[in-house]
Amino acid sequence: MNKIKSRLKRLGILSIAVAGSLQLTMAQKAPQFGKASIDEVIKAMTPEEKAELLIGPGMPGYAGLVPLEGEPDVRVLGAAGGNAAISRLGIPETVFADGPAGLRIQPKRNNDPNTYYATVFPVGTALASTWNTELIESVGIAMGEEVKEYGVDVLLAPAANIHRNPLNGRNFEYFSEDPLLSGKIAAAYINGIQSHNVGTSLKHFAANNQETNRLSVNAHITERAMREIYLKGFEIAVKEAQPWTIMTAYNKINGHYASASHDLITKVLREEWGYKGIIMTDWFGGYPGFQSIMDPNAVSDVVAQLEAGNDLMMPGTKEQKQVLIKALKEGTIDENAVNASLKRILEYIAATPTVKKYKYSNKPDLKAHAEVTRNAATEGMVLLKNEADILPYTSKTGTIAVFGGTSYSFISGGTGSGDVNEAYSVSLIEGLDNAGYSIDKELQGMYEPFVKEAEIKELKRREENGGLLADVHRLPEMPLSKELVAKKAQSSDIAIITIGRNAGEQHDRKIDNDFYLGQDEVKMINAVTEAFHAKDKKVIVILNIGGVIETASWKDKVDAILLAWQPGQEGGNSVADVLSGKSNPSGKLTMTFPVDYNHHASAVNWMGVPLHDPKDVFYKEGIYVGYRYFNTFDVTPSYEFGYGDSYTTFDYSDLQLSSTDFKDDIEVSVKVTNTGKVAGKEVVQLYIAAPAKLADKPAEELKAFAKTKELAPGKSQTLKFTIKASDLASFIDAQSAWIAEKGTYTVKVGASSLDIKLKDEFSLTSNITTEKVHNAFDLDVTMDDVLENN
Ligand code: BGC
Repeated sequence: MNKIKSRLKRLGILSIAVAGSLQLTMAQKAPQFGKASIDEVIKAMTPEEKAELLIGPGMPGYAGLVPLEGEPDVRVLGAAGGNAAISRLGIPETVFADGPAGLRIQPKRNNDPNTYYATVFPVGTALASTWNTELIESVGIAMGEEVKEYGVDVLLAPAANIHRNPLNGRNFEYFSEDPLLSGKIAAAYINGIQSHNVGTSLKHFAANNQETNRLSVNAHITERAMREIYLKGFEIAVKEAQPWTIMTAYNKINGHYASASHDLITKVLREEWGYKGIIMTDWFGGYPGFQSIMDPNAVSDVVAQLEAGNDLMMPGTKEQKQVLIKALKEGTIDENAVNASLKRILEYIAATPTVKKYKYSNKPDLKAHAEVTRNAATEGMVLLKNEADILPYTSKTGTIAVFGGTSYSFISGGTGSGDVNEAYSVSLIEGLDNAGYSIDKELQGMYEPFVKEAEIKELKRREENGGLLADVHRLPEMPLSKELVAKKAQSSDIAIITIGRNAGEQHDRKIDNDFYLGQDEVKMINAVTEAFHAKDKKVIVILNIGGVIETASWKDKVDAILLAWQPGQEGGNSVADVLSGKSNPSGKLTMTFPVDYNHHASAVNWMGVPLHDPKDVFYKEGIYVGYRYFNTFDVTPSYEFGYGDSYTTFDYSDLQLSSTDFKDDIEVSVKVTNTGKVAGKEVVQLYIAAPAKLADKPAEELKAFAKTKELAPGKSQTLKFTIKASDLASFIDAQSAWIAEKGTYTVKVGASSLDIKLKDEFSLTSNITTEKVHNAFDLDVTMDDVLENN
C-alpha cells in the first residue's frame, strides 16, 4: 500500500485523489449547523427531521423523575422543555425552564451530591407594585444569571396577561390591570434577563384571563378591547425588549385557538409589531375539542398552528409529529410556512449559550440574589392603611402577639409553574426574630402544631384530588378563645394578624372564603381587634396574598394594613424591614381593590357560560377593565388603582407642559418634594383624559409613570415625561386605525388614579392617524360592548 502511495505521490496523483475523496465525503455528509448556512441545513432536512425540530421532545425529567426508558437523558432536571437535537445535522438541544418568580428546576439529581436551588423572587404582582423599572431590570439580571449558570437557554417568563377579574387563579404571576404598566414592567424584566444572552418567553399571548377551562374556553373580545387592553402590554414589551420567544395562550380568541390564530401571530405580532423571535405553544396548547391533555387521543392541529406562524409545538408528542410528517409528505401544509419556522428556530438556537458552548458553573450567586429579592419585595409592598402613623413600629421592648396561621407558614410564592424550588424561605416569625422583635411564645407554641396539621391535611386533600392539578385551599384559622385573646391583649404590646391566600394553575379563585374573608378569619379579626383596642393597643394586618381580596368590610377595624403580596424567599425579612422602618414602603396598587366583587364590570360574565363548564366567555365590558371602569362610572373602590401610602408625605408642584398646542409631542414636568420626616420614594402617575367624539373613552388612562429616587426629607426631584401622538391615540374600529383625536386633553398628575394633585390642558387641532393596521379578530358572535354603548 505504501509503495502504491509513494508512486502515486511521485506522480502527483495522491493529493488529487485524497482531495477527491475528501470532497466525496463532504458531499455525502449533511450540511452541519453552525458551518453551513441555515438555508442549506433546512434544505437537507427530511420531513422526519423537520417534525423533530418543530415539535418539542416531550417533558423528560420535568417533574424531577428519572427519565423514562427510551427517553433522552436530561441536562437540567425539572426544566419544562426545549428543542430536540438532530445529531445528523449538528443541531443541539436547548433548554427552556419556568418561570415568572425565578428559575424552576429540580434542586436535587440522582447520584449527585450537589444541589441546584434557585431564588424565589417576589411574584409578578409584587414586582409590578414597585412601579420601578430600574429595579425590575436588576431583578431580571439576577434571574438571568441563575438561568445562564444552571445551563438553561430560555426562562419561560415573564407572564403579562391583564388582570381582567380579581378571581383569575394566576393573577399573582401577572402584573396589572393596566396595559402600559404591564408592558413597561415586562420590558424591564426581559431586558434584565436577556442582558446575559439567555432568552425569555413572554406569555401567555393573549387574553389568557382565566384558568377555568383554560385549554378550550372561547374568549369573545372586540378588536378594540384586544388592541387597547389585552395586546398593548405585549406590544410594548415586544418593541422595547424583543423577547427571544413568545408563548401563545391556551384559550381561543373569537373562535380561533391563540396558538393557531393567524391574526394574532402573523398579522399583529410579526407584521405590525415586527417581531423576529420564535413563537411556541403553551404546553399542550390548541387541542381541538379536548378539555384535558390527559386524553390519549388528543392532538393539536399542527398544520393550522404552523400556518398561523406558531413555530414550535410544546412540549411535543409523537402524535403531533406523525400528523406533521404526513402533511409534509403529502404536500398538504404550506412548505414556506414550515421553512420560515425552521429558519427562526435555527436562528434562535444559533444565539443560545448552548451553541456558544458557555461553560455554566451550576453556582449562581444565590447569596447576592437573596439581597436582590429582599429589597425588591420591600419596594413592592403597599401600605394600605396606617392610622395615626402607628407604623413603623420601632419598639423592641415588649412582645408582639402574632395571630393567623399564615404568620407561621408564610407564603413566598404561588403554585404551579410559577413556583420555584428554593433552598430556604424566611417566614414572618423568623423575619421578626431576625429584626430583634420578641413574639409571644405561647401563641407560637399553639399555632405551629395547628398549622402543621392543617398543612398535612391540605396536602392529602390535594393528593387525592389530582395532586399538582388540584386547586389550593387556604388553611383554616385556629379558633381563639376569648380568654386567650384577652390574656394576649394584656401581656403584649401590639398584635399582628396575617391573612394568607394562595392559588395557581388550572383553577380560579372562589368568591366566598377566598375573595371574601372566611368566617373563621372574620372572627379572628373581630376577637383580636376588640380585645386589643379595649387595652388601647394596636392591630396590624399583613396581607400575604397573590391577588385581590375584599378589604372594605374589615379595614376600619384594624389600625394598619401592609399588603406584602407573596414576597419571595426573603419574605419574612422584607416584611420586618418595612414594619421596622428600615425600608419606607413605596409600592402602589397595580389593580383596583373593589368594595364588592360585583363592582368589577367583568363580574357579570365571569367565567363564561355555561357556568358549571364554561365554553364561551364574553368580554362585554370591552375596554372598561379595572380603573377604566371604576373611574368612568364613578364606582368607589376600597383602594384604587395606583394607591399606596408611605411613612413620609410628598408635595407635587410646578406642573409644566412644553406647549398647550400639541404638535409632535409634549414634554410634561413636575416637581415632587419630600415634605415628611423620613426618606422615601414616590410613584408619580400621569393620566390623560382624551376627547371622546370618535369613540367612547375612559375618564382617564395611565400614559406615563416614574418613581423618584430616594428623597431625603426636604429634597425634591423634577420628573419629566414625553407624551407622543401614539400615547393619545385610541383604536378606532371602523377605520382600523389608531387615531389621536382632535380636541382638548387634560393631563392629570397624581399619587393614584383618584388622588390627582395637579392638572393642565393642551389641545390638538386635527386628528392624527398614528397607525393604520390590519382588520383582525373578527367576532364570531354578535356581542354588545355593553358599557361602551351606555
Ligand atoms: C403553563 C406555562 C408554563 C408551561 C411549562 C403551562 O401549564 O401555562 O406558563 O410555562 O406549563 O411548564
